[in-house]
Amino acid sequence: MVRLLSFAGSTREGSYNKKLAQLVQRIAEANGIEAVFVDLKDYPMPIYNGDLEAAEGPPERARAFKSLLQEYQGVFIASPEYNASVTPLLKNTIDWVTRVRAKGESGLEVFKSRVFAIGGASPGNYGGMRSLLQLRQILSVGTGALVIPQQIAVPRAGSAFEEDGSLKDEGQQKLCTDTVEALAVCAKWFKPS
Ligand SMILES: Cc1cc2nc3c(=O)[nH]c(=O)nc-3n(C[C@H](O)[C@H](O)[C@H](O)COP(=O)(O)O)c2cc1C
Repeated sequence: MVRLLSFAGSTREGSYNKKLAQLVQRIAEANGIEAVFVDLKDYPMPIYNGDLEAAEGPPERARAFKSLLQEYQGVFIASPEYNASVTPLLKNTIDWVTRVRAKGESGLEVFKSRVFAIGGASPGNYGGMRSLLQLRQILSVGTGALVIPQQIAVPRAGSAFEEDGSLKDEGQQKLCTDTVEALAVCAKWFKPS
């Protein structure tokens, strides 16, 4: 059975991207797909530093987060946009996870062996679209992950969500449902080489 993990590149209380990641989790559950939302605030890691890594290895939280990823076949990441890119938090988390390596591993296996979908929410007019382009590159080119073409960009996020966490715009809400379904189908059939 396919299981989905959903998280956001923000730990902010009231984060629009956490709202989006939670919405994806709820849509999945409503469609009979097991899904879990995690908050990166529960996985604090120092900024990557090669000397720190040489002295101590990857932090325990990076190992824990990699283990968590390994439990799910599909992953949804809601990515805020900072200066036309992803947040340091998200990039740092991905970077550390790629450094958790068993003997003979490249560290990318956990990315190459599951399917990703991405989305973003921003108070601006483009819904974090530029961070999504960057995240797609980091995941596909950097880690070799399969990232499905469907993606969600929620503009004017401050007024985009209903009280219950759904999206006011019907088309946007449907896009979320379509993305979740596509992620679940791809994750179910994906056989990494
Ligand atoms: C350093 C910084 C840079 C930002 N740059 C952008 C940007 O390039 N494009 C954009 O749409 N929003 C930008 N924002 C606004 C964020 O989209 C906004 O703070 C958003 O709420 C962050 O996501 P969150 O709600 O999930 O925490 C920036 C915010 C910060 C703090």
